[in-house]
Order: sequence, then structure tokens, then C-alpha cells
Amino acid sequence: MNERTVAVYRTATQKVSEFTVPYNERTTIIDALEYIRLQEEPDLMFRQSCHHGSCGTCGVAVNGEFVLACIKRLADIPEDQPVRIEPLPTMHQIGDLAFDPAEFFNEFPDDITYTRVSDVNTDAAVPEGMEHYERFENCIECGLCVTSCPVTEDWMGPAALASIHRMVEKSPHEADRWLDLAADARGVERCTKNFSCSRVCPTGVAPGKRITLLGAAIKKRAKARAAEGESDA
Ligand code: FES
Repeated sequence: MNERTVAVYRTATQKVSEFTVPYNERTTIIDALEYIRLQEEPDLMFRQSCHHGSCGTCGVAVNGEFVLACIKRLADIPEDQPVRIEPLPTMHQIGDLAFDPAEFFNEFPDDITYTRVSDVNTDAAVPEGMEHYERFENCIECGLCVTSCPVTEDWMGPAALASIHRMVEKSPHEADRWLDLAADARGVERCTKNFSCSRVCPTGVAPGKRITLLGAAIKKRAKARAAEGESDA
């Protein structure tokens, strides 16, 4: 195994500390953090659960890039570059790399549903009877889109708005209710169309595109209502 110097942010010192970590082509950032915790710093804090990119708990900044630590590999970072692991900015920090996602989760409407038809595996063979089921939402609620967004104040954020757009798609008969929510002063109109949210999303949700579609639907509805008003007059 090769060795690599990895710098990790520690809350106690408000600085990064450097560690030497063994790695091969499969070693992920989470593997490196677990090695450091087991071998050197038993109180190192970071979040993780599934280790395979589906629970959304392990977001960190690696050399300023917002990634899931369980799928980002050390070998993906050129050897002539340092490896600097820091907490996601804008999230409520608990310690070291760990953050409390409560504020982020609170932006999601209480009554969104988490199942839908797949966008990705549209050609996949469907076992008999599977048409009665829908797969889980692609969003893993990792917060990378929110932390990458340049809008930080008075804003629902890209993840919550993407979930609202999914609801418009899933429940067209309730579209008005969801569009009202998206048209809130903390909603679509605060988006600056930076699209960093779509670029950073590890599961292809494309929140920026969804926010744009919500904005277009809100405008279309307003136009239709105005036309209705004119014809009634
Ligand atoms: S540990 Fe679950 S997404 Fe990384």
C-alpha cells in the first residue's frame, strides 16, 4: 500500500491536523477517516452510515469540493495535490466534520412523499407485478446542493424546492398547492441560477433544472389566470 498525507479539520484547534494514511486505488475518504480515528484520533467526529452513497450522511469538503466521503477515492486526487478534508460550510457544525442536518431537513415540506417512478432505469427489466410499486426518490438529502448554493439567507434551498417539483410531477392534480409553496418569498424567486446545486449533486437530481421548471410553471399559471380574468371581465 502507498501512503498519503491527509489534513483533517479539528474543531478543538480550529485548524487542520495532518495524518499519514495507507491507501490503494479503492481507499475512500471515509476509509481514511476511519483509519485516522482507529489509529490516532479516537474522538474524530464525522458522519457516515451506509458506506455506499445512499444515506446522504457523509458530505464533506475535500480540497474545497463538496463530495460524499464514502464514494470519493483518495486515488482520484492527483498525488502532487494535498488532501484537505473540512466540514461542509453553511451547515450547523457539531464538531470536526460532523454537522446537524436538522435545519436542512426542516426546509422540506412535511407532506412530501418519497416514492416515485425511476427517471434513471427507464429501460430496466420490470419483474412481474413491479408496476404496482415505485422506487425511492433519487435525492439522498446529503445537503451538498444546499452547501454549494451561493444563496444562504431566507431561502428554502435547492433540495426542498427539488422535492416540491417532484410533488408537482407526481401529483399534478395538487400542482396549485405545491406551486403556491414554491412561489413563497423564500422560494423560487431567490434562486440566482448558479446551478452549482446540479453540478454537485451525487445522484443526478438536478435541483437547478427543477427550480427553473417550477419558475416557468408559476409564470405559466399566472399568465393563464390573467387570461381567465380578462375573459371573465
Ligand atoms: S455513508 Fe451513506 S452516503 Fe456516504
